[in-house]
Amino acid sequence: AATDALRALLAGMRRGVAFTGAGISTECGIPDFRSPGGLWTRNRPIDFQTFLARRDMRAEAWRRRFAMEEAFGAARPGRGHRALARLMREGRLAGIVTQNIDGLHQASGVAAADVVELHGNTTYATCLDCGERHELDWVRARFEASGEAPDCRDCGGPVKSATISFGQPMPAAPMARAGELTAACDVFLAIGSSLVVWPAAGFPVQARRNGARLVIINREPTELDELAELVIHADIGDVLEAATGG
Ligand code: OAD
Ligand code: ZN
Repeated sequence: AATDALRALLAGMRRGVAFTGAGISTECGIPDFRSPGGLWTRNRPIDFQTFLARRDMRAEAWRRRFAMEEAFGAARPGRGHRALARLMREGRLAGIVTQNIDGLHQASGVAAADVVELHGNTTYATCLDCGERHELDWVRARFEASGEAPDCRDCGGPVKSATISFGQPMPAAPMARAGELTAACDVFLAIGSSLVVWPAAGFPVQARRNGARLVIINREPTELDELAELVIHADIGDVLEAATGG
């Protein structure tokens, strides 16, 4: 019944926004953050101030990142990513706003220009002082040789995965683009996110306030379920595959 309601809603969608979290990538072998076994149940996140202040925690951040390399490297788009790519191709979605850093929406065939990354991307690194891009292979070779976090090859500044940590300013252009897409959308699909992390979780609230139809698809209840017109507590791959005829 919920799938029928979702299918009907998607059939009428003209400029939807899909807003995704870690739950869409768990079937691809990438753990989420807050489920049992999730990343934040194993390690507390390293916030931005700590990363800047402590060389040992910078090295720890890289140790964790490279421990994840096998999962990130092997991951291919899942059923949820493929369903959203179909909706993009059909012209029903205006864009995908993601909290994920894994690049799997782009890998599913969605143009990079149609994917708004709110929390950055973990497939490369940048210098926090001068912005110089550093490839992960470069970082890894130095990290493994010395056990230390490497500094920028140009200016000596701290090099960090191109993701947003707690306490780090949000990227301005993606935030603005996500706001525009949200303001203009008719349907807002929040998929695979606990919706507890702000400012990202402000977008479903904004969509609702603007009169868009809000749909939440997540295995567990979220912080914003009561705002939504349709809430589906089930597996994302199952639901989206069934509702998009994949
Ligand atoms: P969370 O781990 O907080 O939430 C993921 C949600 O997906 C959970 O509620 C799961 O129940 C659900 N889930 C997992 N697999 C699923 C499946 N196959 N089908 C249906 N539901 C499933 O992850 P996010 O909400 O994405 O930010 O986390 C938000 C931000 O917190 C992340 O972007 C990251 C993190 O700290 C930063 O690091 C800045
Ligand atoms: Zn630099």
